[in-house]
Amino acid sequence: MLNEDSRYISPKPQLEDSKDGTLRPQLLHEFIGQPKIKRNLDIFISAAKGRTEAIEHVLLYGPPGLGKTTLASIIAREMGVNIKITSGPAIERPGDLAAILTNLDQGDILFIDEIHRLNRAVEEVLYPAMEDFELDIVIGKGPSARSIRLDLARFTLIGATTRIGMLTAPLRDRFGIVERLEYYSPEDLNIIVDRAAQILDTPIDPAASFAIAFRSRGTPRIANRILKRVRDWAQIKADGRIHINVVQDALSGLGIDQIGLDQVDRNYLLSIIQKFGGGPVGLDTIAASISEERDSLEDVVEPYLLQLGFIERTQRGRIATPNAYRHLGLPYGETQGAQEPLF
Ligand SMILES: Nc1ncnc2c1ncn2[C@@H]1O[C@H](COP(=O)(O)OP(=O)(O)OP(=O)(O)O)[C@@H](O)[C@H]1O
Ligand SMILES: [Mg+2]
Repeated sequence: MLNEDSRYISPKPQLEDSKDGTLRPQLLHEFIGQPKIKRNLDIFISAAKGRTEAIEHVLLYGPPGLGKTTLASIIAREMGVNIKITSGPAIERPGDLAAILTNLDQGDILFIDEIHRLNRAVEEVLYPAMEDFELDIVIGKGPSARSIRLDLARFTLIGATTRIGMLTAPLRDRFGIVERLEYYSPEDLNIIVDRAAQILDTPIDPAASFAIAFRSRGTPRIANRILKRVRDWAQIKADGRIHINVVQDALSGLGIDQIGLDQVDRNYLLSIIQKFGGGPVGLDTIAASISEERDSLEDVVEPYLLQLGFIERTQRGRIATPNAYRHLGLPYGETQGAQEPLF
């Protein structure tokens, strides 16, 4: 199995991305792309500031690496407030959440990444906190236990998730602002790559930055990561400048093809096409047949293949489209339907 951590084009954060701080846009106008979200946030932020109120609770969702964490920090900076960053799985007990909430000041932002992974007991504490800025906590145990109510500062919760469908309805309904991040166009990614190259002080040819943009699966995190790898190649194997041939050499060395697919994507498509006659075939069956985890296929591999129109998700399972055959250089129609789908 190709570990997520060793996949160059994984949109999930990797260790060395943590040094990305300088590449991260700090203000809304530095944030490239996502015009609808930027326009909305600009209005909500200006309006809240005009009333000197906290901004409403915000839910950001979409595939990994598109800028949810970045946007949360931008909102905090634009509002001029503190941000406390945590994640669903990190808040294990209601007491953990109570400790965080009681430490927030008026207007502060609490960012909960992977909010779909909050456990139910913690979520129940969050409801009144979000709605009425009150916290019900139980003190003591057994018959002497009593519940007390604490007032909280008027804070803003920003939740982020890659799986909006896994959020419970009562939680989702408590967000006043819900925004979906879309994959970036190659043009927007091109700007992101140029900006990052400038910050990293690395000269890059226009054709080279476009090639990187085009192979980054619509994802800024991947664009930045590829840029850094290619920069290493340029430094060691060329004159330090990133030319198009450096990009091509580096990416083929990394097994990334013309449109940013790697071996995991190809295995996924080949499995549907060659083992299951083009589908429909269930995701669990595909996952088992290529020894990958179902979750990472669903979060990372499929969204981009869907976006490319290489697969379709139907009631009966996944289907490879003619586009996928064409990309892999396989004839459409021959293998297709050759074998009965398993379910
Ligand atoms: N619009 C943008 N313009 C420029 N750079 C961006 C933009 N969005 C994201 N980035 C870059 O991509 C990286 C990944 O963004 P970020 O960590 O915010 O993604 P995310 O959506 O929170 O991902 P995850 O779901 O994995 O947490 C950041 O370090 C930042 O440098
Ligand atoms: Mg993030």
